[in-house]
Amino acid sequence: MSTPHNKAKKGDIAEKILLPGDPLRAKFIADNFLEDAVQFNAVRNMFGYTGYYKGEKVSVMGTGMGIPSIGIYSYELINKYGVKKLIRVGSCGAYAEELDLFDIVIAQAASTDSNYAYQYDLPGIYSATSSWKLLSKAASICEKKGQRYYVGNILTSDIFYDNNPEIWKKWAAMGILAVEMESYALFCNAAKAGVDALTILTVSDSLVHHKETTTEQREKSFTKMMEIALEI
Ligand code: HPA
Repeated sequence: MSTPHNKAKKGDIAEKILLPGDPLRAKFIADNFLEDAVQFNAVRNMFGYTGYYKGEKVSVMGTGMGIPSIGIYSYELINKYGVKKLIRVGSCGAYAEELDLFDIVIAQAASTDSNYAYQYDLPGIYSATSSWKLLSKAASICEKKGQRYYVGNILTSDIFYDNNPEIWKKWAAMGILAVEMESYALFCNAAKAGVDALTILTVSDSLVHHKETTTEQREKSFTKMMEIALEI
C-alpha cells in the first residue's frame, strides 16, 4: 500500500516518528542520528527515513509548512501506517519576553487562528493539547540534562506575513509563548485517533526583541531539540 503523498509500505515506518518541517532536516537527522537509516519516501521531496536510535526503531519525515501540509502527512502516518508517537521538532517565533533565541519551548497546547477543527462539527472551540505521556517525559529529560526549557500554550497560525503586524500582541497577552504553523492540526489528528503527539520547538526569532537566528545557527541549535525528542 501507499498513499498519494507517501510511497512507504505498511511496516516501513516505525511506531515513533520525528517530524521536522523541512525534509532536508529529516535527511540531516537520519544521516547524523540514526543507524542503518533507509529512505521510505521521496514523493514531492518530502523525505522520510526509518533507522535505529540506541537500538530503538524510529522514523523521521518532513511535514512541510503549515496546517494543510502537516494535516495530510500526519493523518496518513497515524491512520494508514499505524504510527503511535509523533513528535514535531520545529522552530518558532517568540511572543514571550523571557524567551531568548535558541530556547526550547515544549507545547502543552496549541491555540489557533485556523478552522481545522471545524471538520469535527463540535458545538464549541476545541483546545488541542499535546500528550501528557510524551510531554512529561520530555520535561524530565530536560531536567536530567540540565537543559533550560519552557512549557506552555503556543499559537499555530495560518499566516506568516500578517496584514496586521501588531496582532501577535493579543495572543501574547493571553500567555501564548510562541508561534509556529503546524501543531494544532497534529494534535487534532492524534486526539481523534487516540495516539500521542508532542511538539518541541527552538526559538528561531523573537517578535518581542526583533532578533532572528541565521541559517547556520539554526542547524547547530537544532541538535539539542533532536536529542530530547529521540530520548523520549
Ligand atoms: N511565525 C510563524 N512561524 C514561525 C515563526 C514565526 O515568526 N518563526 C518560526 N516559525
